[in-house]
Amino acid sequence: MKKHELVLVVDFGGQYNQLIARRVRENNVYCEIIPYTTDIETIKSKNPKGIIFTGGPNSAYLDNSPTISKEIFDIGVPILGICYGVQIMSHVLGGNVRKGNANEKEYGRTEIKYEESTIFEGMSTNIVWMSHTDLIDRVPDGFKIVAHTKDCPVAAMENTEKKLYGVQFHPEVEHCLEGDKVLTNFLYNVCGVSGDWTTDTFIEDKINELKAIIGDKKVLCALSGGVDSSVAAVLVHRAIGDNLTCVFVDHGLLRKNEGDDVERIFRDKFDMNLIRVNCEDRFLGKLKGVTEPESKRKIIGEEFIRVFEEESAKLGKMDFLVQGTIYPDIVESGHGEAATIKSHHNVGGIPEDIEFQIVEPLRELFKDEVRKIGLELGIEEGLIFRHPFPGPGLGIRVIGEVTKERCDILREADAIYMDELKKAGLYKEIWQAFATLPDVKTVGVMGDERTYAYLVGLRAVTSSDGMTSDWYKMPYDVLEKISNRIVNEVDGANRVVYDITSKPPGTIEWE
Ligand code: XMP
Repeated sequence: MKKHELVLVVDFGGQYNQLIARRVRENNVYCEIIPYTTDIETIKSKNPKGIIFTGGPNSAYLDNSPTISKEIFDIGVPILGICYGVQIMSHVLGGNVRKGNANEKEYGRTEIKYEESTIFEGMSTNIVWMSHTDLIDRVPDGFKIVAHTKDCPVAAMENTEKKLYGVQFHPEVEHCLEGDKVLTNFLYNVCGVSGDWTTDTFIEDKINELKAIIGDKKVLCALSGGVDSSVAAVLVHRAIGDNLTCVFVDHGLLRKNEGDDVERIFRDKFDMNLIRVNCEDRFLGKLKGVTEPESKRKIIGEEFIRVFEEESAKLGKMDFLVQGTIYPDIVESGHGEAATIKSHHNVGGIPEDIEFQIVEPLRELFKDEVRKIGLELGIEEGLIFRHPFPGPGLGIRVIGEVTKERCDILREADAIYMDELKKAGLYKEIWQAFATLPDVKTVGVMGDERTYAYLVGLRAVTSSDGMTSDWYKMPYDVLEKISNRIVNEVDGANRVVYDITSKPPGTIEWE
C-alpha cells in the first residue's frame, strides 16, 4: 500500500477511540489506533504527522493508571490530548490533575469560553460536550490555558512552541457542535497534513497492490452477499478479473430474493465467476427436528464448511482466500496483529485445514469507508446499506424447528416489514430490523372465520456495533401498516407483536 500521511491515535481505553479515528479519516487523513503501551521507538519509526491521545476511564494521578513516557513530548510530533488524554499530558509534564468536587463534574452540553488558539479557529459556538469527573487545576510549565468553563478551570491548554494541545471536552462526538473544527484545525494547521487519504486513491492503490501480491495466481472468495465480503470481492475482481472465483453457499435460510439478488449483482452486473450452490434441502434435512438454538448454529456452521470444502475441492488448487476483515476487527482483536478469522466474515467459518494465503483488502477501513468504496465501485445501494444479517440466517429467526413452510412464512413477513420501513424512510436510521417467527400459534378471526396461525415478532434496534442496543421507537402508524399488511398478505400468520427489549438484558436476535 502506498505510504500515506499518518496520524496515530494512542488508545488510553476511552469508549470513543474508534470514533476519534473515524473523524480523522473523515478529514482525509489516514490514521491508526495504537495502545498506550507502544514503545517510543515504534511510534517514531512510523513517522507520524501527528498524535492524538484518547480519553479513558482512569484517573491520571493514580499509580496504576495508563500512562506514557515523557519522551513522547520531545520527539517533535504535534500532540492533541482529549479528556483523559489532556489530563495524562498535564500529569506527566508536571501539571496538577485532581478529582473534581460534586459540583465540578461536567456531563453533556456545557458552555465554554475560548481564548485565541489555532485549534479554535473558525469556531462560532460556545457549546461543547463534556464528560469528566477529574480536572486539571494547574497546567505544566510552558502551557497556556486557552479555554475554561464555569466549573472547569482548564477546558483547553496549549504549548505552541512544542505543538502540544489538549481539550477537556470531546470534539469527536456528534453533540459537540463544532468539534470537527478542532480536529480539522489540529490536523491541517498544527500537523500540516495535506489530506491524501481519499476513496479514489484507495481504490487505485489497492488494485495495484492486489495485482502485485496475487500476480496470476488463483483466488477464492466465500461470498455471503453481506457488505464486507461483497466489497472485498468486487475490489479483488477489479484487480485480477477471472482469476477470482466466488462461491456463494445458498443454504435456503436467506431472506426473500436474496440469493437471486446475489446472482444478479455479481454474475450479471459485475460479470464475475460465481458458483451458487443451492443446498436448501441439505440444510433443512440436517435441521429436521432440531430446536435448540446453539445446536442449530453448530449444524449450519459445520454444514457450510462442508459445502465450501466440497466446492473448493472441485476447483483445484486455489492460492489465496479473500476475507472481508475490516479495521475494527483488527483493533478489537489485539491492535494491528493479523486478525483471527471471525465466523461472521465468512458466514459459517472457513475450513481450518485448507491452506490458503489470506487477502484482506479492507483491513485498513472502517465500515463507513467500506460503504463509500462499495458505492464507488458501483455496487447498488440496497446491498451497501443492508442491515447486518447473521450467518445462520433464518435458521435462528424461525424459533424452534426450522421447516420450509415456516421459513417461507417468515420470508414473506420480513419482506413486507423491510418494504414498509424503506417506504417510510426509516430503514437507514435503524441499525438492524427483522421479523422472527416464534413457535407459537394463536387464534384470530378473519371475516367470519376463526384462524389459528403463527405469531410474527418484529424487532428493530438502534446501535453502533451490535454489542449494546436500544429498541427503536417506531412510529405507530408505520407499525400499524406493517401489521395490517402481514396479517392480510401472509398466509399462515395472523398476529404481530413488536419487541421492546433493549440489549442487555435481551439480545438482538431471539435465538
Ligand atoms: P445478538 O443476538 O447476540 O446479536 O445480540 C448481535 C449481532 O450479531 C448477529 N448475530 C450473529 N451473526 N452468526 C452471525 O454471523 C451468528 O450466529 C449470530 N448471532 C447473532 C446479530 O444479527 C446482531 O447483528
